[in-house]
Amino acid sequence: MYEIPSLTADHKPEAIAVLTSGGDSPGMNPAIRGVVRAALHQGIKVFGINKGYSGLIIGDLEEMTSGSVTNIVQRGGTILKSDRCEAFKDSAVRHQAAEVLKEKGIDSLIVIGGDGSLTGAHLLSVENDIRVIGLPGTIDNDIYGTDDTIGFDTAVNTALDAIDKIRDTALSHESLFLVEVMGRNSGFIATHVGIACGAEMIVVPEYEVQVESICFQLANNRIQGKGSSGIIVVAEGQTPGLTYNLANQLKTHNQNAKVCILGHIQRGGSPTGHDRMLASCLGASAVDYLCAGYNDVMIGVRSGTICETPLQQVIEKNKQLDEMLFQRALLLHK
Ligand code: F6P
Repeated sequence: MYEIPSLTADHKPEAIAVLTSGGDSPGMNPAIRGVVRAALHQGIKVFGINKGYSGLIIGDLEEMTSGSVTNIVQRGGTILKSDRCEAFKDSAVRHQAAEVLKEKGIDSLIVIGGDGSLTGAHLLSVENDIRVIGLPGTIDNDIYGTDDTIGFDTAVNTALDAIDKIRDTALSHESLFLVEVMGRNSGFIATHVGIACGAEMIVVPEYEVQVESICFQLANNRIQGKGSSGIIVVAEGQTPGLTYNLANQLKTHNQNAKVCILGHIQRGGSPTGHDRMLASCLGASAVDYLCAGYNDVMIGVRSGTICETPLQQVIEKNKQLDEMLFQRALLLHK
């Protein structure tokens, strides 16, 4: 359950727009539904923008009704589609986008996406007379100002489902698997998945790990009678496929490991109950914050309470992987 702040509604906008941007994440649909239903309840017109900032620039938007978001709460992906829009890094393009909104009588925009998308939202707001609210939509959970991002829980559960299956074959063949999970700059997915699947080891970008210590751990497991099969969860880091390098290094230490890259399977699928709740509450709250006069903030959840963080901070600060949690993971391997 989330504690929802009670806000005034004395800055109600006439019309708002919503878009999803960057890598999609399971839960974006319930977030859109939350925005649309809450806006209509307040008597605010709401427009859906197709394909993120790329659609905004060319004015690809249409008015949404309650029916537009019927039957989407359980669906993965995003009905509005998404995009990584390089052009939006240009302030002239952002100005053009603001003009598109103003021409339609829209003065407020809700952006659901990760750090790049929220940076675009912040710049759009400070350079132009457009009010902006961001929602953290990414499977990576690497957004400052929120304990949880929309899609993280589903991605963790999708990876777990796959790894439990890999574990069966690893046990049958006494094989070692390196399972690569997503998370470009952060080890949140890897750490949570690693703890929850009982991995023999977790490799994340935040902490360097020597091949020798992996070999030592594996040898130790054998001595303790845990057998020679195992799962090592590896965060992808900057480039998907780097796990093959680790497998090659292990080979030089006489450790044969099979590599399994889970990839985009982690971005799809029906959102978990947790993500549906989080996304629905954040979507509706984004409208409440707009009506209360907020601008240039991201709405997230901290210690079970819905709260706002200035987008400037969200962009500048790095959310750190909890060191205690990682230490706990290391202890559980032994
Ligand atoms: O959206 C986040 C993410 O899924 C990262 O975990 C991953 O590194 C990246 O997106 C992949 O992006 P793309 O699908 O554009 O290759």
